[in-house]
Amino acid sequence: RDLLRGIPALGLGAAALAGCTQAGATTDVENILSVSLNQAENHPSFLALTYFGEQLAEATEGRWGARIYANEALGAQQEVVQLVSDGSVDMAVISSPQVENLSMAFRPLSLPGAFQDIDHQTAVLNDESIVGELFASLEPERRLRVLGAFTQGSRHIYTDRGPIEGPDDLAGLKIRVQESDVFMELTRALGGSPTPMAYGEVYTALQAGVLNGAENNEVSYVTQRHYEIAPHFTLTNHLVGLDYVMANVDRLENMDETDQEAFARSFAATQEEFVRLWAQETDVSTQHMIDHGVEIHDPDPEAFTPLIEEVGRSFLASEADEELYETVRAVAETQGGEG
Ligand code: GCU
Repeated sequence: RDLLRGIPALGLGAAALAGCTQAGATTDVENILSVSLNQAENHPSFLALTYFGEQLAEATEGRWGARIYANEALGAQQEVVQLVSDGSVDMAVISSPQVENLSMAFRPLSLPGAFQDIDHQTAVLNDESIVGELFASLEPERRLRVLGAFTQGSRHIYTDRGPIEGPDDLAGLKIRVQESDVFMELTRALGGSPTPMAYGEVYTALQAGVLNGAENNEVSYVTQRHYEIAPHFTLTNHLVGLDYVMANVDRLENMDETDQEAFARSFAATQEEFVRLWAQETDVSTQHMIDHGVEIHDPDPEAFTPLIEEVGRSFLASEADEELYETVRAVAETQGGEG
């Protein structure tokens, strides 16, 4: 807990005494869980986790609450996942590539082509027989519990120039990616030059011209204000992304049993709230893009889709990978329609 002690400006004391409500923090509670996030305060993850803190405070009658540290205040995901593992931070939202950097067993769930859409992804994540063992696998050594996941929706490429109709148009463009060899390879396959970088650094790098673009969903594109500098948004649909919500196991197990149950109930309610917020904020962001003159390009699916699927499959490194990937894809077929 030393890390948090070192940040007096973020201390809760004064606000709790004054009895006022701070954005992202439950006040007047006995114990507070620190939650690390790299998103801004208007992102659905921040709103959902704030709701989590409120639910938890109510369900534990003020014994537990949460404080959400937005905008990488506690560090970027790659560092923060270690901080949760060693117990200096209690909870965090961690994007799938960073989890995969800890355990390759998670990789098939974050490959391009794994999920067709959010409904398909949700069905897989709710299937204990597919994800149960995997999600528990980080507990013994890493002390990390996967509480659940938030969708990142479909990810697309955006650039400072356009239109982008196919790989040739991305040639020579420096595209920021998450720190992940899958994303590096994917970007190369789609014609661009990948530059791995922490999320919070992207805006400045775009502004400085170190990057020509990046890839993300509409919500991140708008809440990080990347559209101000990279106003060409190309619907590459290269991946339905996944954020894991993780907690330090020891911290959870130190709660008494009633509070652990209240925690589980509060988190289940939060996941539902997130789904609602995500749909709402995707619409809001899309409208914001239109209102701010973003050019949305919809390339011929044949230009990128076959390359995307090929990269996904090329990262299946073992029989276990193949099996999980095929199990995941088979769920889409039982869903009917497109999904
Ligand atoms: C999304 C995702 C984050 C991730 C980010 C990124 O915003 O929700 O967890 O860190 O993409 O591209 O790094």
